[in-house]
Amino acid sequence: MGRFASTVEFYARYREPYPSTFFQKVAEQIGPRGDETLLDVGCGPGMLAIGFAPFVGSCTGLDPEPLMIAAAKAAAAEAGVALSLIDGRIEEFPMTQTYDVITIGRAHHWLERAPTLAVLERILAHDSGHILICRASSVETPETPWVKPYRKVRSAWASGPAEKHYRVDPSEWFRDSCFSAVGETSVTERSQVTIADLIGRALSRSNTSPEVVAGGQGKFETQIAEALEPFVQDGVLEEQIVARASIFGRLP
Ligand SMILES: C[S@@+](CC[C@H](N)C(=O)[O-])C[C@H]1O[C@@H](n2cnc3c(N)ncnc32)[C@H](O)[C@@H]1O
Repeated sequence: MGRFASTVEFYARYREPYPSTFFQKVAEQIGPRGDETLLDVGCGPGMLAIGFAPFVGSCTGLDPEPLMIAAAKAAAAEAGVALSLIDGRIEEFPMTQTYDVITIGRAHHWLERAPTLAVLERILAHDSGHILICRASSVETPETPWVKPYRKVRSAWASGPAEKHYRVDPSEWFRDSCFSAVGETSVTERSQVTIADLIGRALSRSNTSPEVVAGGQGKFETQIAEALEPFVQDGVLEEQIVARASIFGRLP
């Protein structure tokens, strides 16, 4: 089983969403004509491809996890978006065509850097291609004091790479490559979540997936609920999601 297989049923429903204003703001920044080809690398259930679809001409998602491909297919059908899907790893990407926009969301830290950079160099459109490294996460603020105790329970159960593996700075990742940063966009959105949502979100993460917490899933869920209960008001917790896109283009 791939490390994301058991997260799939929780991912599309509970993982921090990219706000709709995020897609609008990024589109304003890169100024698409509307006929661009977009490739979403490590598309998961297709959140980025589906969100950017109204701004480009065609979208393709790539992912090596067949259950994620199935989830992306279902999400695209529900959203009424035409999404082509390729089952595979970017390092062995078979297509020879180029793409105007390549998105990589919450995934660049999983990719083998050197072979991925070689593929990106081959498939990014030459004149005005953009690579968007995207992420969205719930941030700790004075209004969201539950974030720290929630993370503490997750860390205690997590298995896999250390936390810093997930925090690879996009500019560092592209250092000494033929790409350089051309901009950055961020959007903050306030919303409300329930304890059940945050349990689902924890299970959507590969380091606290159902496969990882395995026989302890009931205890894991109880510990999350106990950590969050003191912060619940009227059945919900306030949250702030920050979504960011680091935008890269070819070196002049
Ligand atoms: C955390 S999910 C991100 C999903 C989505 N892009 C998002 O922004 O929420 C990471 C995805 O990267 C995929 N992935 C892992 N290694 C990959 C590789 N070498 N090439 C392409 N995708 C990969 C995983 O299967 C998983 O679906």
